[in-house]
Amino acid sequence: MEDDVCRVLISREQIARRVRELAAEIAGHYTDSHRGLTIVAILSGSVIFLADLIRHLPMKMKIGLITVSSYPGQATKSRGAQILESLRGEVRGQDVMVVDDILDTGTTLRLVLDELRARQPASLRTCVFLRKPAKAPPDLQVDFIGFDIEDVFVIGYGLDYNDHYRNYPHIGVLRAELYRD
Ligand code: IMP
Ligand code: MG
Repeated sequence: MEDDVCRVLISREQIARRVRELAAEIAGHYTDSHRGLTIVAILSGSVIFLADLIRHLPMKMKIGLITVSSYPGQATKSRGAQILESLRGEVRGQDVMVVDDILDTGTTLRLVLDELRARQPASLRTCVFLRKPAKAPPDLQVDFIGFDIEDVFVIGYGLDYNDHYRNYPHIGVLRAELYRD
């Protein structure tokens, strides 16, 4: 796996530090939430970030999952997102925070936000571990961001290429000859 990565963009130590900071920022926004927080994680890319983040959050919460497919097979460019399995359970009247691995073109997040808005939560916030500002549409507001990164295809810490490399502990740049655009 190491051999397939040409460059470590963010190390596991940097990740751990930033996740702790991010959790403190998030906790500060939900101190007076009496409605109950529901974290809605977008599968599969957010699983590792989700697991780390929620263990630094001290408040009572529920976890909901939503499965979205954006990169069919060996692709690194989004071809339109599709909800494969929607959230189970109610979020009406609750504080909801969506968690995703990366905000690239914004198609995935927009789709999920539309789906959740229709279910009438009391509030709806968003948290992404990574954002590529070069591509992310300026009108798509994200409340909490781990890192802004350059526009390169990255893997690790939950992010995949063709369903591999999610267990790579850092954020790495895959060697270009290993993927097709
Ligand atoms: P968007 O819909 O274009 O914003 O893409 C978001 C989804 O595409 C994320 O949830 C990821 O699963 C995937 N994605 C976007 N950029 C990358 C990348 O650099 N590496 C791995 N997956 C990515
Ligand atoms: Mg993915």
